[in-house]
Amino acid sequence: MSKKRSLDEAMALSPVMPIVVIDDAGAAGELAEALLAGGVKVIEVTLRTPAALDAIREIKKAAPEMSVGAGTVLTPRDVGRAADAGAEFLVTPGINGPLLEALFTLRMACLPGVATPSEVSGMLARGMTRLKFFPAEQSGGAAWLAAMAGPFPDAVFCPTGGISRELAPDYLKLPNVACVGGSWVAPAKAIEARDWATITENARAAMALAS
Ligand code: 3PG
Repeated sequence: MSKKRSLDEAMALSPVMPIVVIDDAGAAGELAEALLAGGVKVIEVTLRTPAALDAIREIKKAAPEMSVGAGTVLTPRDVGRAADAGAEFLVTPGINGPLLEALFTLRMACLPGVATPSEVSGMLARGMTRLKFFPAEQSGGAAWLAAMAGPFPDAVFCPTGGISRELAPDYLKLPNVACVGGSWVAPAKAIEARDWATITENARAAMALAS
């Protein structure tokens, strides 16, 4: 049984957090092993498919050293279901009052999604300093994040959305970016095809982005 990691520890595990959409929970264990073989010990399983919660359970069983987060968390019900499935942390594309209440009630670590200075300010006021910037490329990219560093020195970001392997270094060199999120490490098509070799190779490429 592995020790539960803090959000900071989870964000430090890989320069790129693989964001995955899984249709078959039966593939989740092998997916986790393929990522681990490439050195990536963190994964965000999006709650976009009926298989997602079982996939989280499978990963925890097959690869206890993997830090598993649940993504696309939208409602208080999602928070409860992800916590029950054993997610170590949650990631949301946006934030709302009921969602925040559920996070605090269940004491779940979370990267709330923000895309404006007011949202950053609102999260900091609630003591939430680790944030997802989404959708990163569409909302101003690395330049937006660089502009946030002055007024919000306590905010640390995981930008996601449109960040390819080629664009990732522009983000990772910023002092207020801990890691980036991306679906390119384990694309849905590769998971569906059980192309573990490609996923392991992508994971190695992701780890090589560490500065
Ligand atoms: C998501 O939530 O789907 C992420 O932001 C992934 O974005 P990407 O597919 O552009 O990497």
